[in-house]
Amino acid sequence: MIKSQIIKGFKENMESEVFHAENLCVFDQNLLFMKDKKFAKVYRETYEDKREKIRVWRVHIFLWAFINGLKLEGDLIECGVYRGFSSAVATRYTDFGRLSKKLYLFDTWEGIPAEQLDKNRTKIDRYEDQSNLKKVEERFKGLTNVKIIKGKVPEIFNETDTLTKVSFLHLDLNTSLGEIGALEVLFEKMVRGSVCLLDDYGNKIAIIQALKEHAWFKERNYFICELPTGQAMVTKT
Ligand SMILES: C[S@@+](CC[C@H](N)C(=O)[O-])C[C@H]1O[C@@H](n2cnc3c(N)ncnc32)[C@H](O)[C@@H]1O
Repeated sequence: MIKSQIIKGFKENMESEVFHAENLCVFDQNLLFMKDKKFAKVYRETYEDKREKIRVWRVHIFLWAFINGLKLEGDLIECGVYRGFSSAVATRYTDFGRLSKKLYLFDTWEGIPAEQLDKNRTKIDRYEDQSNLKKVEERFKGLTNVKIIKGKVPEIFNETDTLTKVSFLHLDLNTSLGEIGALEVLFEKMVRGSVCLLDDYGNKIAIIQALKEHAWFKERNYFICELPTGQAMVTKT
């Protein structure tokens, strides 16, 4: 029923713009972020494969939360970096190297720790590829305010005592234990108005993560905004 309505809508709006990527299909919207010339240029110059190319709406939302974090006290954190694509677009768009902010990038660069795999998840081999860390080092070369930290979340935070105030938190670990572990340490350090962006919350495969995060935030009286991209966000109050 819903599907046939969508198809009918497309036929009747042939001249309307259609966005279709990563399980998201919308039409008849302004999509101004796609028409932002600077964003389009940075994005084109940064993506290296189809997987990165189609993340555009997700990265737009990441960039929005990242820029919000630049206006607040504290540093920015990404947990789950992989090849550093989202942060690379954001640092290039904001000319991050010239700012007096720090961006911390945490990853094992050896994949999701076996003991943290959610029941319905299998090992994702591409996360274990040695070239991922090299790619990150290459993408952030020369940016002395970007700290690339190899280690397991949340344990690695014990060795990173410089994290006192956080103005943006991106959680993209694909494991509920890792992400809840990060929240336990970092959420209290987030400053008022900062955004915690959960990359996978809406994706069916991440149901275990989503349910645990929903409960975690509910216990603390926070209401999660679920986005059509599959991301979700919470503003620290
Ligand atoms: C989906 S990828 C991140 C994608 C990236 N945020 C982007 O926008 O391109 C997930 C990453 O999380 C890392 N990871 C998973 N569990 C982890 C943990 N407990 N500690 C550190 N890194 C972890 C994996 O090694 C993998 O590189």
